Amino acid sequence: MDPDNSILDDSKRKFISTCLGGLAILAVTGGAVVTSSIFRYYLIPRPTTDNKGKITIPVKDLAAGAAKFFEYNGYAAVLVKKMDGRLAVLSAVCTHLGCIVQWDAKRQEFICPCHAGYFTPDGEVISGPPPSPLDRLPFNVANGIVTIG
Ligand code: FES
Repeated sequence: MDPDNSILDDSKRKFISTCLGGLAILAVTGGAVVTSSIFRYYLIPRPTTDNKGKITIPVKDLAAGAAKFFEYNGYAAVLVKKMDGRLAVLSAVCTHLGCIVQWDAKRQEFICPCHAGYFTPDGEVISGPPPSPLDRLPFNVANGIVTIG
């Protein structure tokens, strides 16, 4: 076919190409917005008005090497009883993009399911994208009761 006899001249081709490029950008951007909304709704914690103030948890409720998750001032938090019996109370909100970490009792590590961030039982980063340790929460132990806050 002779290019000079084509139905579309160069300016029309350029116009159609620009329109298709714009539609592609809109599709990608729209998809990113929807994906971001789903991610934020399901994975990033939202503060609530419940459980403000101090939280108490009996030490005997936790076996060595176990973790107990709870809500503290509207955010996910966790009490860990390490294998040596020492306690740690941490924010369970990952310092990378805010997903909730999970406790792997077998490995004695926290794992962030979003981007494979790993933390020690004290909340220190082992590997992955988290830029800093899990936040430590204030607590004390008296008469077998852990009081957080
Ligand atoms: S949000 Fe936890 S590793 Fe990305």
